[in-house]
Amino acid sequence: MNIKSYVLWACLASVSALTHASDPMAQLHRWEVAAGQAGVVARGELFFNSTHGGDWSCASCHGQSPVQAGKHASTSKTIEPLAPAANPKRLTDDAKVDKWFRRNCKDVLARECTAIEKADVLAYLVGVKK
Ligand code: HEC
Repeated sequence: MNIKSYVLWACLASVSALTHASDPMAQLHRWEVAAGQAGVVARGELFFNSTHGGDWSCASCHGQSPVQAGKHASTSKTIEPLAPAANPKRLTDDAKVDKWFRRNCKDVLARECTAIEKADVLAYLVGVKK
Protein backbone atom coordinates (compact mmCIF):
# COMPACT_ATOMS: atom_id res chain seq x y z
CA MET A 1 0.00 0.00 0.00
CA ASN A 2 1.53 3.38 -0.93
CA ILE A 3 1.32 6.33 1.43
CA LYS A 4 -1.52 8.01 -0.46
CA SER A 5 -3.80 5.03 -0.31
CA TYR A 6 -2.87 4.46 3.33
CA VAL A 7 -3.92 8.02 4.22
CA LEU A 8 -7.18 7.56 2.33
CA TRP A 9 -7.79 4.24 4.07
CA ALA A 10 -7.09 5.76 7.50
CA CYS A 11 -9.54 8.61 6.81
CA LEU A 12 -12.28 6.28 5.65
CA ALA A 13 -11.73 4.01 8.62
CA SER A 14 -12.06 6.84 11.12
CA VAL A 15 -15.14 8.28 9.39
CA SER A 16 -16.84 4.91 9.45
CA ALA A 17 -15.88 4.48 13.12
CA LEU A 18 -17.53 7.80 13.90
CA THR A 19 -20.69 7.22 11.93
CA HIS A 20 -20.94 3.65 13.15
CA ALA A 21 -21.57 4.87 16.68
CA SER A 22 -24.45 6.97 15.51
CA ASP A 23 -26.79 5.24 13.11
CA PRO A 24 -30.08 3.54 14.02
CA MET A 25 -28.65 0.00 13.79
CA ALA A 26 -25.80 1.02 16.08
CA GLN A 27 -28.33 2.40 18.58
CA LEU A 28 -30.23 -0.87 18.50
CA HIS A 29 -27.04 -2.89 18.84
CA ARG A 30 -25.85 -0.79 21.77
CA TRP A 31 -28.94 -1.71 23.81
CA GLU A 32 -29.02 -5.31 22.66
CA VAL A 33 -25.47 -5.70 23.97
CA ALA A 34 -26.47 -4.04 27.26
CA ALA A 35 -29.52 -6.32 27.55
CA GLY A 36 -27.65 -9.44 26.50
CA GLN A 37 -30.44 -10.34 24.07
CA ALA A 38 -31.97 -9.23 20.78
CA GLY A 39 -34.78 -6.66 20.71
CA VAL A 40 -38.16 -8.14 19.77
CA VAL A 41 -40.24 -6.08 17.33
CA ALA A 42 -43.68 -7.25 18.52
CA ARG A 43 -42.76 -6.61 22.15
CA GLY A 44 -41.48 -3.14 21.23
CA GLU A 45 -44.69 -2.28 19.39
CA LEU A 46 -46.81 -3.40 22.34
CA PHE A 47 -44.61 -1.48 24.78
CA PHE A 48 -44.82 1.66 22.62
CA ASN A 49 -48.62 1.61 22.47
CA SER A 50 -49.33 0.63 26.09
CA THR A 51 -49.64 2.69 29.23
CA HIS A 52 -47.47 1.57 32.12
CA GLY A 53 -49.37 2.66 35.22
CA GLY A 54 -49.80 6.32 34.27
CA ASP A 55 -51.96 8.21 31.76
CA TRP A 56 -49.52 8.22 28.87
CA SER A 57 -48.03 5.72 26.46
CA CYS A 58 -45.19 6.54 24.05
CA ALA A 59 -47.90 6.83 21.39
CA SER A 60 -49.66 9.57 23.41
CA CYS A 61 -47.08 12.02 22.07
CA HIS A 62 -45.48 10.18 19.16
CA GLY A 63 -48.73 8.87 17.64
CA GLN A 64 -49.67 5.28 16.90
CA SER A 65 -47.67 5.23 13.68
CA PRO A 66 -43.97 6.07 14.09
CA VAL A 67 -43.78 6.98 10.39
CA GLN A 68 -46.21 9.84 10.95
CA ALA A 69 -45.81 13.00 12.97
CA GLY A 70 -47.10 12.96 16.53
CA LYS A 71 -48.54 15.62 18.78
CA HIS A 72 -47.24 16.35 22.26
CA ALA A 73 -49.89 15.28 24.79
CA SER A 74 -49.59 18.39 26.93
CA THR A 75 -48.24 21.17 24.65
CA SER A 76 -49.92 19.98 21.40
CA LYS A 77 -46.66 20.72 19.57
CA THR A 78 -46.02 18.65 16.48
CA ILE A 79 -43.31 15.99 16.91
CA GLU A 80 -41.58 14.76 13.77
CA PRO A 81 -41.89 11.00 13.05
CA LEU A 82 -39.70 8.74 15.22
CA ALA A 83 -39.02 6.00 12.67
CA PRO A 84 -35.79 6.42 10.68
CA ALA A 85 -37.72 5.24 7.57
CA ALA A 86 -39.70 8.49 7.70
CA ASN A 87 -37.15 10.74 9.36
CA PRO A 88 -33.45 10.09 8.62
CA LYS A 89 -32.33 12.32 11.50
CA ARG A 90 -33.77 9.92 14.08
CA LEU A 91 -31.60 7.60 16.18
CA THR A 92 -28.35 9.05 14.88
CA ASP A 93 -27.01 10.59 18.08
CA ASP A 94 -26.23 8.69 21.30
CA ALA A 95 -26.67 11.73 23.52
CA LYS A 96 -30.03 12.63 22.04
CA VAL A 97 -31.36 9.09 22.28
CA ASP A 98 -30.17 8.78 25.89
CA LYS A 99 -31.60 12.14 26.90
CA TRP A 100 -35.04 11.50 25.47
CA PHE A 101 -35.28 7.89 26.65
CA ARG A 102 -34.51 9.14 30.15
CA ARG A 103 -37.08 11.92 30.03
CA ASN A 104 -39.82 10.06 28.14
CA CYS A 105 -39.52 6.85 30.17
CA LYS A 106 -39.89 8.88 33.37
CA ASP A 107 -43.05 10.47 31.95
CA VAL A 108 -44.57 7.17 30.89
CA LEU A 109 -43.25 4.60 33.42
CA ALA A 110 -42.14 6.81 36.33
CA ARG A 111 -38.71 5.14 36.02
CA GLU A 112 -35.92 4.62 33.51
CA CYS A 113 -36.60 2.08 30.78
CA THR A 114 -34.55 -1.10 31.07
CA ALA A 115 -32.00 -2.07 28.42
CA ILE A 116 -34.31 -4.75 27.03
CA GLU A 117 -37.25 -2.31 26.83
CA LYS A 118 -35.05 0.09 24.86
CA ALA A 119 -33.78 -2.70 22.60
CA ASP A 120 -37.39 -3.79 21.92
CA VAL A 121 -38.58 -0.25 21.13
CA LEU A 122 -35.57 0.39 18.88
CA ALA A 123 -36.08 -2.93 17.05
CA TYR A 124 -39.66 -1.82 16.42
CA LEU A 125 -38.75 1.72 15.30
CA VAL A 126 -35.85 0.61 13.09
CA GLY A 127 -38.00 -2.07 11.45
CA VAL A 128 -41.03 0.12 10.64
CA LYS A 129 -41.36 0.70 6.89
CA LYS A 130 -42.98 3.69 5.30
C1 HEC B 1 -45.07 13.80 26.87
C2 HEC B 1 -44.74 13.55 25.48
C3 HEC B 1 -43.87 12.36 25.12
C4 HEC B 1 -44.04 11.04 25.50
C5 HEC B 1 -45.15 10.46 26.35
C6 HEC B 1 -42.95 10.31 24.90
N1 HEC B 1 -42.14 11.14 24.17
FE1 HEC B 1 -40.44 10.63 23.13
N2 HEC B 1 -40.12 12.58 22.68
C7 HEC B 1 -40.93 13.64 23.04
C8 HEC B 1 -40.30 14.88 22.64
C9 HEC B 1 -40.89 16.29 22.86
C10 HEC B 1 -39.09 14.54 22.01
C11 HEC B 1 -38.03 15.49 21.47
C12 HEC B 1 -38.49 16.28 20.30
C13 HEC B 1 -38.13 15.61 19.03
O1 HEC B 1 -37.09 14.96 18.97
O2 HEC B 1 -38.90 15.74 18.06
C14 HEC B 1 -39.00 13.08 22.06
C15 HEC B 1 -37.95 12.35 21.53
C16 HEC B 1 -37.83 10.98 21.59
C17 HEC B 1 -36.71 10.23 21.07
C18 HEC B 1 -35.48 10.82 20.38
C19 HEC B 1 -35.25 10.23 19.03
C20 HEC B 1 -34.17 10.88 18.24
O3 HEC B 1 -33.15 10.23 17.95
O4 HEC B 1 -34.34 12.03 17.82
C21 HEC B 1 -36.95 8.91 21.37
C22 HEC B 1 -36.08 7.69 21.06
C23 HEC B 1 -38.23 8.85 22.05
N3 HEC B 1 -38.74 10.12 22.18
C24 HEC B 1 -38.81 7.68 22.49
C25 HEC B 1 -39.94 7.64 23.32
C26 HEC B 1 -40.42 6.43 23.95
C27 HEC B 1 -39.79 5.05 23.82
C28 HEC B 1 -41.52 6.78 24.69
C29 HEC B 1 -42.32 5.90 25.60
C30 HEC B 1 -41.61 5.29 26.72
C31 HEC B 1 -41.72 8.22 24.49
N4 HEC B 1 -40.75 8.69 23.66
C32 HEC B 1 -42.76 8.93 25.07
C33 HEC B 1 -42.13 13.56 23.70
C34 HEC B 1 -42.67 12.41 24.28
